[in-house]
Amino acid sequence: MLAVEHPLVIDADVQKSRKSQYEINPNIINRWSPRSFSGEVLSNQDLFKLFEAARWAPSSYNNQPWRFIYAKRESKQWDSLFDLLVDFNKQWCTNASVLVVIISKKTFEHNGMPSFTHQFDAGAAWENLALQATFQGLAAHAMQGFDYEKARRDLEIPDDYEVTVMVAIGKRASPEKLPQDLRQREVPSNRKPISEIVMEGKFGNHIGEP
Ligand SMILES: Cc1cc2nc3c(=O)[nH]c(=O)nc-3n(C[C@H](O)[C@H](O)[C@H](O)COP(=O)(O)O)c2cc1C
Repeated sequence: MLAVEHPLVIDADVQKSRKSQYEINPNIINRWSPRSFSGEVLSNQDLFKLFEAARWAPSSYNNQPWRFIYAKRESKQWDSLFDLLVDFNKQWCTNASVLVVIISKKTFEHNGMPSFTHQFDAGAAWENLALQATFQGLAAHAMQGFDYEKARRDLEIPDDYEVTVMVAIGKRASPEKLPQDLRQREVPSNRKPISEIVMEGKFGNHIGEP
């Protein structure tokens, strides 16, 4: 049995605003959604590792409903993805290295029946992508602030696919690069306590933590 030791530790900055109640994989705590990006070019090698991580997500019937439409900042396709964003997201995404539109197939490939979990499956793929980005020293920031209908039209997405989310990917930069109002929000957020979100046996039966 091969023992793999990861040098992963919780990032000192992240630890200031995030305390985990139990000891878990530090990469999970280190993932957060910054808005200040360096704008530097991301190699295909680095980018495609993220899609590699995403495709290993589990899905109902292993249908793998996720699809990824990407544009790099220096490419001619950049504008067609960037133009989908609401103004709030445009102001910080201008320095992202890559934008991705995640879509998911609404039906099963083996029988054409509707899948009730295709977006849940795509969500698992997104989180794999985001955790891999963190592991590579990058950040991935999901967004629902964009024009879903325009995305379908402009990117020629077939009706059988749901437009799910956009993601900005890049290397983190100093908060100073952001407009004033966004600077103070450039810190990792905290979470509800386990006692509030976990119930034993039936709804409302919050037992607190062991
Ligand atoms: C589905 C989804 C949609 C989001 N949409 C936006 C968005 O449009 N703009 C934005 O700045 N952040 C957006 N976020 C980021 C969330 O605000 C962020 O994930 C949340 O506050 C938790 O913070 P963390 O990711 O840093 O842990 C989105 C996140 C998710 C998962």
